[in-house]
Amino acid sequence: MKPELLLLCPLYPGTEQRLDELYTVHRLWEAKDQPALLKEVRDRVRAISTMGAVGCKAELMDAVPKTEIIACFGVGVDAIDLKAAKERKIAVTNTPDVLTECVADLGMSLLLATARQIPQGDRYVRDGRWLKANYPLCQHVGGRILGIVGLGRIGQAVAKRAEAFGITVVYHSRHKNPALPHRYYEDITKMAADVDYLMLTLPGGAETRHLVNADVLKALGPEGTLINIARGSIVDEKALVQALKSGTLGAAALDVFEAEPKVPEELIAMDNVVLQPHQGSATHDTRAAMGQLVIDNLEAHFALTRVV
Ligand code: 8YV
Repeated sequence: MKPELLLLCPLYPGTEQRLDELYTVHRLWEAKDQPALLKEVRDRVRAISTMGAVGCKAELMDAVPKTEIIACFGVGVDAIDLKAAKERKIAVTNTPDVLTECVADLGMSLLLATARQIPQGDRYVRDGRWLKANYPLCQHVGGRILGIVGLGRIGQAVAKRAEAFGITVVYHSRHKNPALPHRYYEDITKMAADVDYLMLTLPGGAETRHLVNADVLKALGPEGTLINIARGSIVDEKALVQALKSGTLGAAALDVFEAEPKVPEELIAMDNVVLQPHQGSATHDTRAAMGQLVIDNLEAHFALTRVV
């Protein structure tokens, strides 16, 4: 008998296909009557699969109380109630490593896109404005300073890329990592004052909520750029809009938002902001690898429980 799995949202198509082969999959988002589906599968579901943005609340864990594992398609588990999972002895897995390079590629692309104003230049050509005048000059990235907040796997992969462009990397995180050659700042605001670009590569969740506030943005300054490839919750979005509006912050490149997929109209209207629809890991190769890891994590769990 295949174990029963509750899938909370669509995953990569190939991944769903493999899940269907290995498990009896109940697709919650497709159910016309979700409470009825949950009631029906209540005592049979042994696994939940979800993704970063969807997460899993305690209520849902209680709706299917035989759940042994929550397999997250994504590295960030901030939307999963980890405390509730622990209390209920539910294992939680995620998909680190396989997405590191891809997310770092997007971070570096956003840095370059902002400094060289690539989306703006694209609009300039399409609008026919080039026929009337040349585009204004932009900023060279070599020789500038990038402050990375959270120098973990993704942060270090961004650092490697930035250094190849002649950018100096410094960082802020909860603890100094003596193994890293980069200058460490204990204080994020002090670091923001010293850098040209501030890139966020740290986990979301209650601990980091609004870490980037009005003071940090002010310190980054009118020539500074904020790049967020982590979680929208880390930035006080209202303060960000205000800083960009008033010119106390120079520019921003954002892949994530506080209430995504809703993006504040003010940000959409600003020409000094580069926007992305949460694309960090969004390539076929990476999503397939993430899906494989979700399956491997589930299989490892069920193999273990079979032995027991
Ligand atoms: C994905 C992410 O967009 O891994 C994460 O934490 O935010 C992204 O890779 C998402 O989880 C995939 O659904």
